[in-house]
Amino acid sequence: MKVLIVGSGGREHAIAWKVAQSSKVDKIYCAPGNAGIAEYAECVPIGAMEFDKLVAFAKEKSIDLTVIGMDDPLVGGVVDAFEAEGLRVFGPRKNAAILEGSKAFSKDLMKKYGIPTAAYENFNSPEAALAYLETSKYPIVLKADGLALGKGVLICMTKEEAIEGVKTLMLDKQFGSAGDTIVVEEFMTGREVSVLSFVDGETIKIMTSAQDHKRAKDGDQGLNTGGMGTFSPSPFYTKEVDEFCRKYIYQATVDAMKAEGRPFKGIIFFGLMLTPDGPKVLEYNARFGDPETQVVLPRMKNDIVEVFEACVDGTLADIELEFEENAAVCVVLASDGYPEKYEKGYPISGLETFQDKDGYYVFHAGTKFDGNTIVTNGGRVLGVTAKGENLVEARKNAYAATEWISFDNKYMRNDIGKAIDEA
Ligand code: AMP
Ligand code: GLY
Repeated sequence: MKVLIVGSGGREHAIAWKVAQSSKVDKIYCAPGNAGIAEYAECVPIGAMEFDKLVAFAKEKSIDLTVIGMDDPLVGGVVDAFEAEGLRVFGPRKNAAILEGSKAFSKDLMKKYGIPTAAYENFNSPEAALAYLETSKYPIVLKADGLALGKGVLICMTKEEAIEGVKTLMLDKQFGSAGDTIVVEEFMTGREVSVLSFVDGETIKIMTSAQDHKRAKDGDQGLNTGGMGTFSPSPFYTKEVDEFCRKYIYQATVDAMKAEGRPFKGIIFFGLMLTPDGPKVLEYNARFGDPETQVVLPRMKNDIVEVFEACVDGTLADIELEFEENAAVCVVLASDGYPEKYEKGYPISGLETFQDKDGYYVFHAGTKFDGNTIVTNGGRVLGVTAKGENLVEARKNAYAATEWISFDNKYMRNDIGKAIDEA
């Protein structure tokens, strides 16, 4: 088989690495890819939003399956564009990717189908939102309806902050049209867990759990980022939590989408909060998490291409997902200053150390070739992942492996997986 992967981050590197292990696959392409992905795939300079070019490329190369990693093309309808030309593609259509593309849609869906989530109201006028804030309880949470690179969520401690927030999202349009509508939501407390799943329109199969660290600095300080590190499994995702979510959240979401005439095929990523009142959905994503994928896929035993195909064909019920009984930790090596201002173009050394080490991985997020040298090319540069018998071992291994890499302005959090000690 020939497989095309669309995307260019650590998530897509992990997907490409996993696809490369499939006995069914002879050739992998990635658009646009990065310097690490180039080890497994031929990278082609087509952007993830260039649907016409992607479709033309898939036809020209007789691609058997295209896998979309990123949210923007999915929400924009890339799957529909492929299907219109009779091409096989893994991911939700536009009318299903709205589960991530519109927070107002997903909140209304959860309310309609009784799926546990924070109480909320949607607003499409700033006046109405401001009036609502007069009688609200604080803290409160404001969310831009549309995609905002994970940055469109504001936790407001006071009414004054919330009024500023409405201004930022709806009047100053910091996230453009993503803020035309906002969700104003009850503030919840508890541990966060990320659960990824494969879905074929009807059947859902749950992967092992993970936890992300979204803030830039140790102790969950600093700005929100795309994610500074992950561990898997989450010790807080207990058997009871799993049973609850299977009963009230996972299948209920898939059934709700089908009932709405929006059957979902692809990955549903459940962002959950384990509140004192039980697990609740924080958000849905319509794709693999980044950097959750970097700790989940190394622990997965299945041939991922078989699972992708089962989702496309509607035969997921026949597949049993299997994960190793161990743990993995991923520490993101970023450019100092991320997510605000940072420099790029510094040579990276030590990458070769990973080559002969079982259970250690270096997934590239923002890298590129400068001649024969691999240089930094983004805020998040690398995801260093290590496995271990348990979370404590995996964390020790991952932090040891971060020492193998050097580049100017290297920055990382030193407390990824600290919660493990509290479990
Ligand atoms: P989201 O993009 O919706 O997952 O939100 C980003 C982050 O904001 C989450 O990972 C949470 O840490 C936080 N957050 C979102 N919604 C709430 C809420 N209702 N209560 C408390 N924290 C929240
Ligand atoms: N790590 C969070 C996300 O992928 O949205």
